[in-house]
Amino acid sequence: MQKIDIFDTTLRDGEQSAGINLNTGEKIEIAKQLERLGVTIIEAGFPASSPGDFDAVQRIANTVKGSIVTGLARCVQKDIDVTWEAIKGAAQPHIHVFLATSPIHMEYKLKKSPEQVVEQAVEAVKYAKSRFSLVQWSAEDAFRSDREFLVKIMNEVIAAGATTINVPDTVGYATPAEYGALFKFLLENVKGAEKVKFSAHCHNDLGMATANTIAAIENGALQVEGTINGIGERAGNVALEEVAVALKVRGDFYPYETTINLSEIKRTSQMVSKLTNVVIQPNKAIVGKNAFAHESGIHQDGMLKHPETYEIMSPSLIGEGEVPLVLGKHSGRAAFRDRAEKMGFDLSDERLNKAFDEFKKLADRKKEITEADLITLLTEQQVLIDDVPLFELKSVQVQYGTENIPTATVSAITPQGELKTLASTGSGSVEAIFNTLEQFFDGEINILDYRVSSVGKGRDALGEAVINLRYKDMTTTGRDAAQDVLEASAKAYLNAMNRQLIQASMRAQVTQ
Ligand code: KIV
Ligand code: ZN
Repeated sequence: MQKIDIFDTTLRDGEQSAGINLNTGEKIEIAKQLERLGVTIIEAGFPASSPGDFDAVQRIANTVKGSIVTGLARCVQKDIDVTWEAIKGAAQPHIHVFLATSPIHMEYKLKKSPEQVVEQAVEAVKYAKSRFSLVQWSAEDAFRSDREFLVKIMNEVIAAGATTINVPDTVGYATPAEYGALFKFLLENVKGAEKVKFSAHCHNDLGMATANTIAAIENGALQVEGTINGIGERAGNVALEEVAVALKVRGDFYPYETTINLSEIKRTSQMVSKLTNVVIQPNKAIVGKNAFAHESGIHQDGMLKHPETYEIMSPSLIGEGEVPLVLGKHSGRAAFRDRAEKMGFDLSDERLNKAFDEFKKLADRKKEITEADLITLLTEQQVLIDDVPLFELKSVQVQYGTENIPTATVSAITPQGELKTLASTGSGSVEAIFNTLEQFFDGEINILDYRVSSVGKGRDALGEAVINLRYKDMTTTGRDAAQDVLEASAKAYLNAMNRQLIQASMRAQVTQ
């Protein structure tokens, strides 16, 4: 079996996509879960792009030891220096430098001749190699580049010290046959190809990312890059869970293996979806909520007679299924902490205690506490900076009747420690709550998106609210859950505003 390295870029290419805005705490949680999932390399961010990205990459490099941690850099000295500062604490410092090689990118974006591009790539790789033992070089838009030019530049960057050569289909234009053929051609023609690892990086604009990635593997790629749930710019990157499971389930056909711990897939997928607020389409392969659901009578009948009639893999393969209920209303704090740690949460004592209090309240009201409920309670406690004073909701009350004007009264503790109670009306209960909460702040707050959904099944399921809002020049997304959707909505609103305080505090630290 040939080993294929899995390079996860959920925190870089994935995070780069529209509407996703993870804070450092959330990025660290995802990185730790990726480590448990068994990915070979975690691309933790683009350190030179912002102080926030630098901080996240540095903290992940210093925390994660079971996977290699890398950061993206342009082929410029400053980016490489900044990336070194962020990554130098990692067990195996790795950098990912990239430069575009297609005619359209070189002429219009870079405004450089092919010769200048070769020179810049070689200089950057040499410079990176003077610090990092592992240097990955990417030919951005490789698929639309001239093949002979790719051979020329790859010959040179390998000679300059690159250890991995990435061949991205940046705009998702390739077909499987073409992308596979490109790898075959490069592996046969690039000097020193046998000394380095060739890597595939596919975008999904035409829905062919998984097929393209597997075609690359069949033609010699030893590393594949992608994201969890396929998140990423435009139509996203290849979904790594699809590649890993396809190689496993079709092991009769594909002689390749990865180090992915498949039973961590469902949990990783849910965590990424929850923290990024990117909903997984129900029929998404492997991780969609219907991926293992059988609806039609004929299918159900077949399944009852023999599961393999309609099931090519069991949901337990990816860690899905009935999670034994290990916690109930009589469970103690130690058991709760143990379960949280097993689920991959690493919270301070204070936050763990808060989650435990919420769990106790919930256990009093809800028959069954599911793993999804626990994930919701625990993720609510993941806040990036412990020392920024935040708003805390104390109570919310709404008077609603079809014949009268909805009125909300909200009490909250302000960051200054003062208990304030305010009231306002609205055309509906939610608007009344939002109008009231707005009064806690100075200026207008625009609601850009607001969604409510249930966590799991049943009439006593938790209600989860997600709200995306804009205040002054900042957009943030807040999320929270409660047994009542109105309470969840109020908490999600304050969560979004607390994220504004956290970001403002980070900005202030950077400008000091
Ligand atoms: O799609 C792409 O080309 C990239 C590069 C930065 C590797 O993400
Ligand atoms: Zn990409």
